[in-house]
This record gives sequence, C-alpha cells and structure tokens, in this order.
Amino acid sequence: MTEAWGPDDDEPRPHSGPVRVRVPAKINLHLGVGPLRPDGYHELNTVYHAISLFDEITARHGDTLTLTMEGEGTGELALDETNLIIRAARALAAQARVPAYARLHLRKSIPLAGGLAGGSADAAATLIACDLLWGLGMSRDDLAEVGAQLGSDVPFLLHGGTALGTGHGETVSPILARPTIWHWVVAVADGGLSTPAVYRELDALRDGSWPPPALGSADQLMAALRQRDPAVLAAALGNDLQAAALALRPQLADVLKAGAEAGSLAGLVSGSGPTCVFLAADAAHAQRIADGLTEAGVCRAAVTARGPQPGARVI
Ligand code: C5P
Repeated sequence: MTEAWGPDDDEPRPHSGPVRVRVPAKINLHLGVGPLRPDGYHELNTVYHAISLFDEITARHGDTLTLTMEGEGTGELALDETNLIIRAARALAAQARVPAYARLHLRKSIPLAGGLAGGSADAAATLIACDLLWGLGMSRDDLAEVGAQLGSDVPFLLHGGTALGTGHGETVSPILARPTIWHWVVAVADGGLSTPAVYRELDALRDGSWPPPALGSADQLMAALRQRDPAVLAAALGNDLQAAALALRPQLADVLKAGAEAGSLAGLVSGSGPTCVFLAADAAHAQRIADGLTEAGVCRAAVTARGPQPGARVI
C-alpha cells in the first residue's frame, strides 16, 4: 500500500555533500560614481558583466567551520574570521538559526584586490553552497539580502549575466537583452589596489570641483549593448574610478597603451583596479591582444575571457 500522506518532496533537506559551486569574476562596463554618502559609500550607476574567470567553493559537512584554499593568492589571503567566506557562512547560519558547521575549500583563480570582485564572488558562492549543504532552501533574493551586508557586489554575483547596479551597487536589475557573447582580455597586475583607497583618491581628485560630480547615467552603455556591435560597445565603455586608479598606480597607463597597440577595440580599468580589461571583436582577436600584452611585459598575466556568464551555480 502506498502512503497517502508522505513527506513533501519539495521540502529542502540537508545535502550529504560535498557541494561544489562555481562563481565568475565581474567587470563594470559602465561605472558612474556619485558623491560620497553619509554612510561611507558612494552612490553608483553601474553596469555589471560576469566573465569566464572562475573561483570554486567546495562545502562538506564538519563539526566546526574551517576554510582551506589553493590557487591564486594562497599564503596571502587570511583564512580566519576576517575572510569573506567565513563571514558569509556565519551570516547565513545566523539568519537561518542553524549552527555554522562546514568544511569549506576555495580554489581561486580570480586575483586578490584586483577590481574583479573576487572576495564578493567567494561570499556569493559560499551562500549558495551552504544553503544547499544545510538544506535551507532560501531564494536567491533572500541570499542576496544576506550578501549585500558582506560586499556591494555579492548580489550581482549571485545573479550573474549583465545587470544594472544602483544604490552602492547592491541593488541589481538584470538587463533583459538577448545576450550577445562579448570577448575580453584580462590583464592581471602584480599586486592589488585597496577599493576604499581608490574611492578616497577619487574624492580627493574631485575635491573643490564645481559643479559637484553628477552621477553619470548608464543609458548610453545600455543602448550600445542592444546594438550587439563590439565597436559601438567599445565607444560606450567608461569607469569613473579609472583616473583614481591611474593616480595611485601610474604604470596602468602603460598597460592601457599596450592593449591599444595590440589592437583592442577599447581598454579600461576594471572596477577599482588594478586589473585592466580590453574588448575584442572575437575569440581569435582576443588571443592576439593577450599575446601582444604578454610580449609587452606590462602585466603579470593576460588571459582571454567571455561574458556574460551565469552567477554562482552548483556544478
Ligand atoms: O562593499 P565593498 O566591501 O565592496 O566596499 C568596500 C569599500 O569600498 C567600502 O567600505 C567603501 O569605502 C568603498 N565603496 C564606496 N562606494 C561604493 C562601494 C564601495 O565608497 N559604492
């Protein structure tokens, strides 16, 4: 006889583990920065774009919360309570009122403090991984609310794709165009830049300027995306933080120049830098630009990438 009233199959249950989650890096196709707000953040109008440079988090059951890592930044990145992965697991456990018990392992490819939101990406991946491991069944929007407390870019990295970011970046609206594949070259720098330091430098550069800085709209960039033409997108790319990143790291001008000489359609500093990204017409063009940047010897590594990519996903 079959049970008339069995367990509900839709009810989330703990996963036996391990759970593996892959998360992309982000670049900003447009980064309009408004004035400093009383809460210490700047109002943003940004177009986020997720690209194919990935970190991976593996979560297993444990009787405490631990974090290990391999890859980019090993030995440099603190794995203690300050790490965004540990903070994300604790924030999620507190929200769901469950013990924060997990063994987490990070495989890192996104450079530290590179302007590619690697820390926020890892926090986003941790939220997805622990939600499944602990059987919480939270929605992506609920996870984004927890994530917004951890880093401005966490909500975007949960959703991925190409999206408009407002507020201090934490309010994300997907751009519902039929996605076109865009080809990029990512020039990874030696050493990182501190995001707050770059924002402070921008405030210093703007100090006393009149009229006060206006928050640039993302309309032109969004219209360019709809045209699906790399040359049109190239003309619309822009980053208000670029001047500040260049002031703190003047060598970035050599990277941008080398990318232009290698034939890129456009180049810009990614987020708060120091990573620079270059737009290419297609995959073969991207490879030629990467080779040109490598030959010029202006960066630690030059790799090709494609966007958009989905946000943090179980694999
Ligand atoms: O949110 P996230 O951790 O990425 O921000 C790091 C720092 O960058 C903030 O503490 C703030 O100093 C600066 N920031 C800002 N305006 C934003 C985002 C970040 O001033 N919209």
